[in-house]
Amino acid sequence: MDDYNRRQFIRTSLPGFLGLGMALPAITALATRANACHGRIPSDGKINWDAFLTEVEKEAAKQHLDNWSEQAYVKKAAALMAQLNLQDPALEEAFKNTKKGLGNKRVDFYKLEKQRVFEVCMLQFEQGEQIKHHDHPGMTGVILCATGRTDVWNYDLLGKRNDSKNVLLKETSHALLTKGKVSTLTSKERNIHRLKAQNLTQLIDIFAPPYNKERARNSSWFNVDPEPFQGYNKIYEATKR
Ligand SMILES: [Fe+2]
Repeated sequence: MDDYNRRQFIRTSLPGFLGLGMALPAITALATRANACHGRIPSDGKINWDAFLTEVEKEAAKQHLDNWSEQAYVKKAAALMAQLNLQDPALEEAFKNTKKGLGNKRVDFYKLEKQRVFEVCMLQFEQGEQIKHHDHPGMTGVILCATGRTDVWNYDLLGKRNDSKNVLLKETSHALLTKGKVSTLTSKERNIHRLKAQNLTQLIDIFAPPYNKERARNSSWFNVDPEPFQGYNKIYEATKR
């Protein structure tokens, strides 16, 4: 029996041991991040990229809990965004990369981080470039303006017509996003937005949960009537593309 137990132990522990070995670099990386700010976030001063990711992960991981509050999360993530040190060397490479996108006449996307519960990307707009009306079903978004000026319009979905791709959208805000300002959306509020840059603009976006195949498939683009629906203030008819 002892012999059986010993073999059993070897058989079951080997994959576990290998698994731990493979996980070690990730665990070490996490520990490094946590230690980057001595495990604490100063209430005033700037936080570095690693400490920022550690804190966002901690907040975004709560999304699977029954009492998850998207509103509370976006508020915390927005506060973390506002504290992020954009001069952190970890972001240098990303900002350098954005130079390659200059003059290509389209909005540029750069992935900065992707984890199980969130992802962070950078977007670059040149003057007049825009991302037209689109939604983020089941997702939250927190957007920091790192540099530049861009108009952001947010909408709530009011309802849809039966057997039709037509929907009614209510414009809930039109804001000018400038350096250091943050814009947020939740799955229920402000989930549809449009962005148009007034000059060269770089944004850092956190999505929680992150995009996956299903979320990307469920996302929609909208053609929005320029005139309000039947004269209603800030309500527009739109068609899902
Ligand atoms: Fe978006």
